[in-house]
Amino acid sequence: MKDNPIGVFDSGIGGLYVLDRLIEALPGEDFIYVADSKNFPYGTRPPAEIAGIVTAVTRYILKQNVKALVIACNTATAHSGHLRAVVDIPIIGVIEPTARAALAAGSDAVIAVLATNATVKSGIYQKYINELAPGATVIPVGCSEFASAIESGDIGTASSYRRVAAKLSPYAGRGIDAVILGCTHFDLYRREIAAALPGARLISAADPTAGRLEGVLREKELLKDAARPGTVTIMTTGDAETLKQQIAWFRREYRGVHHIDL
Ligand code: DGL
Repeated sequence: MKDNPIGVFDSGIGGLYVLDRLIEALPGEDFIYVADSKNFPYGTRPPAEIAGIVTAVTRYILKQNVKALVIACNTATAHSGHLRAVVDIPIIGVIEPTARAALAAGSDAVIAVLATNATVKSGIYQKYINELAPGATVIPVGCSEFASAIESGDIGTASSYRRVAAKLSPYAGRGIDAVILGCTHFDLYRREIAAALPGARLISAADPTAGRLEGVLREKELLKDAARPGTVTIMTTGDAETLKQQIAWFRREYRGVHHIDL
């Protein structure tokens, strides 16, 4: 079991930013990443549909004999509660570790949660933060349009800065201490978001999730004893060539991009 790979998925490219941090934290592990590009975006779909897609992707990944599953997507994590009762390997979602990380800003912090419309509607960040720190203020902002723009490659351009500024400037004077990048795609908009909300700390899911994965594998004695570097295999339910071009920024070595049908 220890030598089995770790499965990771997202609706597209955002989860690769999380994968990068997982590799950094656990360089000896083998990873299988699924970009469910065919079903992108998740964040504008109704909850039951998202839950069905999450089940289908998970079923595929479990067939690859993984020892753990990282749901590198907030929207999918928010709609994955049904899996926990039927899946017997550890499932690590991004939301709870990220909510905890944001509270380093203080138990009375003002925290903006930028997420897909579906994640915001699920109320899951609000719930975790209210439980962990009842004195904190949560400002949820549904920004599904950012994920679509990022997926289409509009990053670091005049129009990406304009898009983000137009959406977030109304929040600039609200004393925001921390901004949760509550959609894994938004790591690719760090510069745009920092420009629109200067002074706020940006909280990515990537490092908190990597820390959680390492902790869970250690506790369950599932860490590989390997001295050699692990492998990374990337799969997409969409077009493999397109994904390759979309992820030119991903600097880790990987064994090609393979098309799969779920
Ligand atoms: N990366 C996904 C997330 O973290 C969202 C993108 C989508 O709408 O599919 O929520």
